[in-house]
Amino acid sequence: MNDALTHASARLPGYRVTERARLDARNTFGIAARAPMLVEVADTNILPGLFADNAMLRDGPVLVLGGGSNILFAGDPEGVVLALTASEVRIVDEDGGSAIVRADAGGEWHALVLWTLAHGLSGLENLALIPGTVGAAPIQNIGAYGVEVRERIHAIEAFERATGKSWRFGADECAFAYRDSRFKHEPDRFIVTAVEFALPRAPQLRLEYAGIGEELATMGVAGTPRPSQVAEAVCRIRRRKLPDPAVIGNAGSFFKNPIVPRAQAEALQIDFPALPAFRTGDDRTRKLSAAWMIDQCGWKGHRDGDAGIAASHALVLVNHGQASGAQLLALARRVAASVRERFGVALEPEPRIVGASW
Ligand code: FAD
Ligand code: EPU
Repeated sequence: MNDALTHASARLPGYRVTERARLDARNTFGIAARAPMLVEVADTNILPGLFADNAMLRDGPVLVLGGGSNILFAGDPEGVVLALTASEVRIVDEDGGSAIVRADAGGEWHALVLWTLAHGLSGLENLALIPGTVGAAPIQNIGAYGVEVRERIHAIEAFERATGKSWRFGADECAFAYRDSRFKHEPDRFIVTAVEFALPRAPQLRLEYAGIGEELATMGVAGTPRPSQVAEAVCRIRRRKLPDPAVIGNAGSFFKNPIVPRAQAEALQIDFPALPAFRTGDDRTRKLSAAWMIDQCGWKGHRDGDAGIAASHALVLVNHGQASGAQLLALARRVAASVRERFGVALEPEPRIVGASW
C-alpha cells in the first residue's frame, strides 16, 4: 500500500485503493491490463485533499478511467488509474420551459438518458445506449444520430490536478468540435467531476438522420413520436449495427470520420461516386465515411488471430477473445495504411491509446 495514500485514507473517507488492479473488466475491448494502483473516489469533494497529500497523484501519471469504452490498452498504464464513482442526478434549476440537470461524472451515460426521459425532459434521446460514463461524454463530445452532446451541455465542473482548483466552464469555453474538446487535448490537467445539461420540456426532435424514420415506422409509430420512442428507435438501430461489447470486445468506431477540404472530397467522389461525404458546418470541408473506405479496402470481417474487424461494421475493431492491445493496434495501423494508399486520406483513431502512440 502506498504510504501517502494510506495516510490520507485515515483522514479522508470516500475513496478506495487497490494495488495491482486488473482492468480486464474495466475496458470494453476486454484487454488484460493492470494498473499499479487504482483509486476509486466516491466523493469528489475530497479530491483537493487527496491530491494535496499525495505526490504520486499530484505529479505522477494519472489516467482517469470511466467505463473504458473509448480506450485501447496497448500496454499497462503507468502510475495511478483514477475512477470516479459518484452518480447522483438532480434538477438544479427549472423555468417551466426547460430544466438544468446536474449529473455526477461517475454515473452511467445511458442511465442518465433514461432518467431525463422519465422526468419528462428531452434532448438526449438520440444519444441513447452510448456506453460509458457521464464524465467522459464531454471529453470527445459524444455524438450519434444527428446530435452532439455539446448542444445539450450547460456547464462542466472540473478539478484541476496541478492547482487543486475547481472550475466551472460554460459550454462555449470547452472548445467542443466533432469528437473533440479542450479536455481531450489536456488529459493530464482536468478531471471532469460533474456535467450540467440544459434540457427542454417541449421536445425538439431530431429525426432526420438516416434510418430513424424507417425504424419508427417499423415500430408502428405514426405521427410525431415521443422522445422515449426516438430513444427506442436509436437503441434498435444501434443493437443491429454495432457489436455488443458484452459479447465481443470493441470500443465502437475505432477511427474518426476524416474531415478533409471540400475540393479533396469532390475530387475523390469523381473517382469513387459512392463515397459518402457529409456537410460539416464549414462549407470549405466535408466529412468522409471512414467505414465506407475501410469496407472498400476489403477489411470487413477480417481477422488476424483474435484481432479483427467487425463483420457488421467496418469501423469497429474487435477482440475475438485473447487479442492484446498491441495486436489490435497493429491491425488498426494496417487498416489505416491501406486507406491512405487507396484514397490518400489519413485516418485518426478515436479511442485513447494507452502505452503506445499512434
Ligand atoms: P473511457 O473509455 O473510460 O475514457 C475515455 C477518455 O476520457 C479517456 O481519455 C479518459 O481518460 C477520459 N475520461 C473519462 N472520464 C473522465 C473524467 N471524468 N474526467 C476527465 N477525463 C475523463 N462514442 C460516441 O461519441 N458515439 C457513439 O455512438 C458511440 N458508440 C459506441 C458504441 C460502442 C459499442 C462502444 C464500445 C463505444 C461507443 N462510443 C461512442 C465510444 C464511447 O462510448 C464514448 O467515447 C464514451 O463517452 C466513453 O466513456 P467511458 O466512460 O467509457 O470513457
Ligand atoms: N458503411 C459502410 N460499411 C460499413 C458500415 C457503414 O460502407 O461496414 C457506410 C454506410 O453506408 C453509411 C456510412 O458508412 O453511409 C456511415 O455509417 P453509419 O451510419 O454507421 O455511421 P458511422 O459514420 O460509421 C458514426 C459515428 C458513430 C455513431 C454513428 C451514428 C464516428 C466515428 N462514428 O458512425 O459513433 O454511432 O455515426 O450517428 O463518427 C463511435 O464514435 O464510437 C460511434 C459508434
